[in-house]
Amino acid sequence: MPLKEEKIVIVSNRAPYNITKSDGEIKYKRSVGGLVTALDPILVKNGGLWIGWDGNIGYDKDFKKKIRVGNKDHGYSLKFVSLSANELKCYYHGFSNRSLWPLFHGFIFQSYFDLKYWKSYQSVNNKFADSIIEEISGKELVWIQDYHLTLVPGRLRKINPDLKLLFFFHIPFPNYEIFRVLPWDKEILKGLLGCDLIGFQTLRDATNFLECCKNILNIKVSFKDKTVYLENRIIDVKNQPISIDFKRFNDMAGSKGTERYLKSIKELGAGVKIIISVERLDYTKGIKERLLAINRFFEKYPKYKKKVVFLQISVPSRTKIKEYITLKREIDELIGQINGRFGDELWSPINYLYKALPQLKLAALYKISDICLVTPLRDGMNLIAKEYVSCKAEESGVLILSEFAGAAEEMGKYSISVNPYDIEEVADSINEALNMHSNTKKMLISKLRKIVKKNDIYAWVNNFIKYSKSISGN
Ligand code: UDP
Ligand code: G6P
Repeated sequence: MPLKEEKIVIVSNRAPYNITKSDGEIKYKRSVGGLVTALDPILVKNGGLWIGWDGNIGYDKDFKKKIRVGNKDHGYSLKFVSLSANELKCYYHGFSNRSLWPLFHGFIFQSYFDLKYWKSYQSVNNKFADSIIEEISGKELVWIQDYHLTLVPGRLRKINPDLKLLFFFHIPFPNYEIFRVLPWDKEILKGLLGCDLIGFQTLRDATNFLECCKNILNIKVSFKDKTVYLENRIIDVKNQPISIDFKRFNDMAGSKGTERYLKSIKELGAGVKIIISVERLDYTKGIKERLLAINRFFEKYPKYKKKVVFLQISVPSRTKIKEYITLKREIDELIGQINGRFGDELWSPINYLYKALPQLKLAALYKISDICLVTPLRDGMNLIAKEYVSCKAEESGVLILSEFAGAAEEMGKYSISVNPYDIEEVADSINEALNMHSNTKKMLISKLRKIVKKNDIYAWVNNFIKYSKSISGN
């Protein structure tokens, strides 16, 4: 049955809940990413539909294709798309994460272009589009998320020219010289231009996209109005950085649960300064380069031995992909070398966790960390930077932030801004943060908290919803 007019349909590769089955029992586990935290309550309140991959290989007849999520009075439908082993290999691990992911982050020599990957990407995008079409009447707002699904808008527009279609890119959009390397550059642009509005994290990403449209498709664009003119349609482009639920992190950091957790790990950081880094284990996050900077820091500033501990939380990610397997091994080795070189029986410079923690524990760890070291080589946004400052109600702590994170556009001015490739600079920035006057720390963190509080995830969502109300479909 079609949805009611004006309902939102969110489409993302990963569904907000993963299905797992153990000992025959089916469980639905909510994912923790920013997008889910933001959009789930809005869909619960207003109703709607979310379509995404169930997180498994292939289709299990015991899994339901559609479930209702929410509470007794309010909720939304969640429809699962299943992917075969070959689709996972070629569409998800392949084209999405070995072609687009590295290229869009500027890692040209790590990008693989394989016709099999591309064909699978096309067919899975069609599969998502068909799955959407089955559910809608045409009046809804269809909001597609991220690089896995760039061809979906084009396909939907062809089927129904009146649809209201939005897209948001969570990762960077590369400049023209990098993007044109992609053998299927035109197809990706045309797919995206099926939308009414395409959102990007930063002005640089939006400008890069406009430049690609102009130079690759030879069509008219306006940099001033941020619009693309395609045949009889005008497509809007918008830079609107994604954010977090400031209040939720702020409240979590001050909660009883956090207090209890911190009591249970009171040995951590006793008498030492804590420097925290958190991310998926991904080569874009600059973990290796950061470890080299930590090595240099202890070489150059040996007085900090036993006075500082680096807490490195790396979440297993895309563990079937060769580049991620190699990176894991390199990181394990580097940490072993640094701990072996500087550590002793009672103290290790790096405390390494290779697992995901619930956000309540993260909030507690942010709260007690003196410094947050966020040094991606390239990142669409980086929510860790925003979460850290939201947990600092007492207005202490220092954020060291890579100039190549999308978050730097809003937060760079009030952080210690670093080039993550510059090992010497990162090592020195740690020393600078450790010696920063408490008044300066207070001033900087309070500015950062104001920025994140004002531009929180609800402001981000509302901005898009407001836009969608102003269009009636092209
Ligand atoms: N996260 C988490 N547990 C962990 C590590 C990370 O829940 O152990 C969450 C974190 O709170 C943040 C998200 O994962 O909301 C990571 O988002 P970010 O934009 O920094 O990176 P991405 O993984 O999307 O590239
Ligand atoms: C980035 C992407 C998301 C993706 C997430 C986790 O944040 O922008 O689209 O869901 O990484 O990656 P995964 O491959 O596990 O979905």
